[in-house]
Amino acid sequence: MKSLLLSRFLVLLPWALLVIIMLDADSGRRAPPPAALLARRPHAQQPQQHEGAPRRREAEPQQPLLPIIYAITPTYSRPVQKAELTRLANTFRQVARLHWILVEDSAVRTELVSRFVAGLTAAGPPCTHLHVPTPPRYKRPGLPRATEQRNAGLAWIRQRHLHAPAPQPGVLFFADDDNTYSLELFQEMRTTRKVSVWPVGLVGGRRYERPIVEKGKVVGWYTGWRADRPFAIDMAGFAVSLQMILSNPKAVFKRRGSQPGMQESDFLKMITTVEELEPKASNCTKVLVWHTRTEKVNLANEPKYHLDTVKIEV
Ligand SMILES: *[C@@H]1O[C@H](CO)[C@@H](O)[C@H](O)[C@H]1NC(C)=O
Repeated sequence: MKSLLLSRFLVLLPWALLVIIMLDADSGRRAPPPAALLARRPHAQQPQQHEGAPRRREAEPQQPLLPIIYAITPTYSRPVQKAELTRLANTFRQVARLHWILVEDSAVRTELVSRFVAGLTAAGPPCTHLHVPTPPRYKRPGLPRATEQRNAGLAWIRQRHLHAPAPQPGVLFFADDDNTYSLELFQEMRTTRKVSVWPVGLVGGRRYERPIVEKGKVVGWYTGWRADRPFAIDMAGFAVSLQMILSNPKAVFKRRGSQPGMQESDFLKMITTVEELEPKASNCTKVLVWHTRTEKVNLANEPKYHLDTVKIEV
């Protein structure tokens, strides 16, 4: 009897061991290393709203994070606003490590934009919603626009990194809500060391404008308007590294003394020189951003008073 049990046991033992080994190997295959997990979750960093809350970040990444991209977008209330912001969000949520800073030209956060930002949810992009009104005296044709909003975005970024223990790699650019952005543009700008530049399509009364590059250096500007500007470039045509923004705390967009069309030059003059510019997009020979303009919406048949049975946000 005893020997029977023993022989049964000895027959089953190798099989049991085999099953244990297989289960073990299988579970090993299903748990990817932390680095792979991180690569699939580009928005591992939480947006501002969650700052201060306890963070669950058990697995610190082994490899250095991609430089963060801050996109500063001034926006104002108009019939196409929600359509433009939706278009932009659909682009930005495909970009890893992008933080969207949406700055309303308004004395309060409007309901429309607040609802829009709340609706971005987990699919991203992480978004910080700011607001600052343009003083009425500056709301005149011929005066530069969105100055206060861009400065509010810059101030937020500087504040956020004020007490950072070590300078974090990053880059910022000014993403107006009517432009169209190729995903390639973000790959190009992410490696910006100081200030990088690239062509812009459909701008300045031409099919494109671009920095003229010789031997890898910017030597002039192909532009239809005032090529004598120190930096004859559109707001959509450059990115600045976080380090440059932090080490030049006085660099902001000026109201006083800034002539129309000189905003970009006046700003860039404070932080860099033409010789230092880093040409992107194959030495500035590819258009990866377009200064698209939404046609003015025809609302000629819009009733004076609300006639529909439901109220719909557009
Ligand atoms: C840009 O031009 C420089 C100098 O002519 C060259 O070495 C470099 O490979 C070019 N870069 C690209 C991306 O075409």
